[in-house]
Amino acid sequence: MIKSVQLDTIQLTYSDSGSGQPVVLLHGFPLDHAMWTPQIVALSDHARVIAPDLRGFGQSTLGPQDAEQGVEMHQYAADILGLLDKIGVKEPVILCGFSMGGYILWQFALRYPERVKAIVLCDTRAVADTAEAREGRIKTADEVLRLGTDSLVAGMLPKMLSKATLSQRPEVVRQVTQIMRSCQPAAVAAALRGMAEREDVTAKLAKISQPALIIVGTEDAISPPAEMRSISESLSHVQFVEIPEAGHMTTMENAGAVSESLQRFVTEMTGG
Ligand code: MLT
Repeated sequence: MIKSVQLDTIQLTYSDSGSGQPVVLLHGFPLDHAMWTPQIVALSDHARVIAPDLRGFGQSTLGPQDAEQGVEMHQYAADILGLLDKIGVKEPVILCGFSMGGYILWQFALRYPERVKAIVLCDTRAVADTAEAREGRIKTADEVLRLGTDSLVAGMLPKMLSKATLSQRPEVVRQVTQIMRSCQPAAVAAALRGMAEREDVTAKLAKISQPALIIVGTEDAISPPAEMRSISESLSHVQFVEIPEAGHMTTMENAGAVSESLQRFVTEMTGG
């Protein structure tokens, strides 16, 4: 069920289904909660699945200065805390972040550890942008505000999907493109500026003591398996799952395998 709450200057919309242990799914960039549709369906028989649209994305609104000033990862994390408080979820959640959602997850887990029971990192990174990548993001943010998101979407799509998905699975290509195209330029610019500013959390990973599951597509070109393996070496209780037949967009390219891993992990974490 789609619901929304008012948080200071923004309205945050989220999908809320099932009951029991809360599992929060944080989407990537430039996407919205719809990227988790198969996992929401699969998990809501076992848990309460809360999948927000991050500020500015999907049906959620953006703050007045966000497009120009950017939204830092800790601000998105604070929004999630605000959402949980507002809907009365006080118990620790299983927090799952995909790519940019993973950057937000780090901030949430480091700032509000008492609100986290376990973490799931999907196709994400711990390092900051290089100086060159940072510069590219700022330039793209300005361009997107002037010209729209078409060229960003066209440039990102081949990095998001595996070669096989791109050439043989038009339905997946269409679905991912549709979600990317529906993102508002202002939200995209805000997130680009925020990601450009994000910190390198590598040295802080050892502070995260909750059990972790790492999921990565075998052909992920944005957060490759080798990089995610090195993240797993810094976490204490960690399981590592490589998803075959998938690039970066594991949740949509091999939805069944991701749902199965998540379900197994949630069941383990809830003693089921
Ligand atoms: C994402 O999928 O969220 C993005 O690829 C993250 C990024 O651009 O660093």
